[in-house]
Amino acid sequence: MVKKAFSPARRNVLSRIWIGLGIAALLQMLAGAAFFFISGRKQVEQHTPQLLQAGVATDFPPGSVTLIGKGHLYLARLDNGGFLAISRKCTHLGCAVPWIAERKQFECPCHASIFDITGNVLKAQAPRALDLFPISFQQDMVMIDISSPIKRSTYTAEQLVFLQERR
Ligand code: FES
Repeated sequence: MVKKAFSPARRNVLSRIWIGLGIAALLQMLAGAAFFFISGRKQVEQHTPQLLQAGVATDFPPGSVTLIGKGHLYLARLDNGGFLAISRKCTHLGCAVPWIAERKQFECPCHASIFDITGNVLKAQAPRALDLFPISFQQDMVMIDISSPIKRSTYTAEQLVFLQERR
């Protein structure tokens, strides 16, 4: 039996079809990669706040530290009236850090790190200050966004949030 060879014109058409299919597959891959990249970026940009009602601002006296919600964080109010929502999670290995009112400091029970009322490290192991949560006010109600803790190396006065800032 004799095999029939394709004519040059037909071979040309077939190779064009293969090239076309290759280009279509490549474009589809690129479109998929672009979609993955763009949707990934949108997820990073679109953070949905998870607001926790901490209480009425005037109920937190200056110089106080209050355990909030289910105990994930503290609301500290400094003597100047500024608020900080401080994570309870130690920045060393993540143990829950209690506030020791008599000594006015946070003391980690795991490896003895100590933090002051602002969450600043007074004594290592902890490598940096306790994380913060964003604070806002609705009327006089203190609202804390627990969806996005803020890492920081140390405390600075700019981190304080004051009730009168919204007025
Ligand atoms: S976990 Fe707090 S000092 Fe180690």
